[in-house]
Amino acid sequence: MISTFLAALNSLIVALRSGGVWHRCQRFYGLPILIRQPGARLEIGRRVVALSKPRLNEIGLIQPVVFSLLTPEAVIHIDDDAGLSGCTLSARREIRVGQGTMIGSGVLIMDHDAHALPLPGTHGSVAVKPVHIGREVFIGARAIILKGVTIGDHAVIGAGAVVTHDVPAHHVAVGNPARVVPPETE
Ligand SMILES: CC(C)(COP(=O)(O)OP(=O)(O)OC[C@H]1O[C@@H](n2cnc3c(N)ncnc32)[C@H](O)[C@@H]1OP(=O)(O)O)[C@@H](O)C(=O)NCCC(=O)NCCS
Repeated sequence: MISTFLAALNSLIVALRSGGVWHRCQRFYGLPILIRQPGARLEIGRRVVALSKPRLNEIGLIQPVVFSLLTPEAVIHIDDDAGLSGCTLSARREIRVGQGTMIGSGVLIMDHDAHALPLPGTHGSVAVKPVHIGREVFIGARAIILKGVTIGDHAVIGAGAVVTHDVPAHHVAVGNPARVVPPETE
């Protein structure tokens, strides 16, 4: 009862600090870390649950939830009923997470490379490409979703996968670099 109240209070604190809309049905167990440039938008839907306390996840958490919005244009949108367990979402432009999607412990999702890499064509700027994750996607523990990736509805991302390319809806992708597992044939 008290923890439910505190979880609703934590979500209110995040909404106040991010300038976002608060829904009383959100539950944030433990306070997430919020890094936000003025103007950046953190949009969190109804009934979203975020776990930032190690004991609340059956495999433990290695970190609190981190929302990192690094430019004034950045948007992180998390749709209704999504669940986040001690993961990082870091946006310079846009990360969208669909309704009912579950993001596992230690997952890292970023729409940028964080540093200007000395690659041909980058001109000293940080590469940025939006990340879109569909509805009811399951992202296993410690997976990494890199810039420019779109993951279709109901896809499953295996634990520890490094996802560098799109994953179609209703498919499973595993490994580093993540590859789609061929559907079983009878
Ligand atoms: C992705 C996952 C759900 C797939 O389970 P599954 O459908 O039972 O898949 P299978 O065990 O039949 O494996 C299918 C193939 O993918 C491989 N595979 C499965 N998971 C893998 C992973 N995480 N990394 C690399 N390869 C993996 C298997 O070795 C197998 O390959 P093969 O056909 O060459 O032998 C599961 O393996 C997984 O990663 N579970 C972890 C979930 C998790 O992180 N939960 C905690 C969240 S906080």
